[in-house]
Amino acid sequence: MALEWKDEYSTGVDKVDEQHRKLFAFLNDLEEFITQGIDSGPKVDSLLVSLATDVQTHFSFEEHCMKQYNCPVARENKEAHNEFLRQFGNFQHEYKAKGSSVSLLKKLHETAESWVVNHICNIDIHLKSCVGKGED
Ligand SMILES: [Fe+2]
Repeated sequence: MALEWKDEYSTGVDKVDEQHRKLFAFLNDLEEFITQGIDSGPKVDSLLVSLATDVQTHFSFEEHCMKQYNCPVARENKEAHNEFLRQFGNFQHEYKAKGSSVSLLKKLHETAESWVVNHICNIDIHLKSCVGKGED
C-alpha cells in the first residue's frame, strides 16, 4: 500500500516535512515498479541513485536542525540514520554484485518503508517541540 502523508508526521520544520514527502514519493515509485514487475533498467537505476542522494541530503539537513534546536534526540537520530545508511549500503552492494531482482527491490522497499514511518513517528517528530526553543 502506498505511503500517504499524515499530519501526525509533521516535524514543525517545513523543509524536513518536504524532504520526508519526497522520500515517500520515491518509495511509492519503487512500489509501483515492483507491482509492474520492473526490476531493472535506467528508471530503476535512476530512482536508486536519486534515493541515495536525497537520503544523504535529508539526513544531514535534519541532523543540522536537531543540533540547531538542541533537540534531546539529536544523537539518537544520528545513530539511527547511520544504521539506516549501513543497511542501505548493504543493499547497494548486493545490487551491484548480484544485479537487480524484484525480490531485492521488495526487500529494500519493505525495510525502508517501515523504517521511515517508525523513524519519523518515534524520533523526527521530537523536532516539533524543540523548534523555536533552542535557537541562539
Ligand atoms: Fe531522522
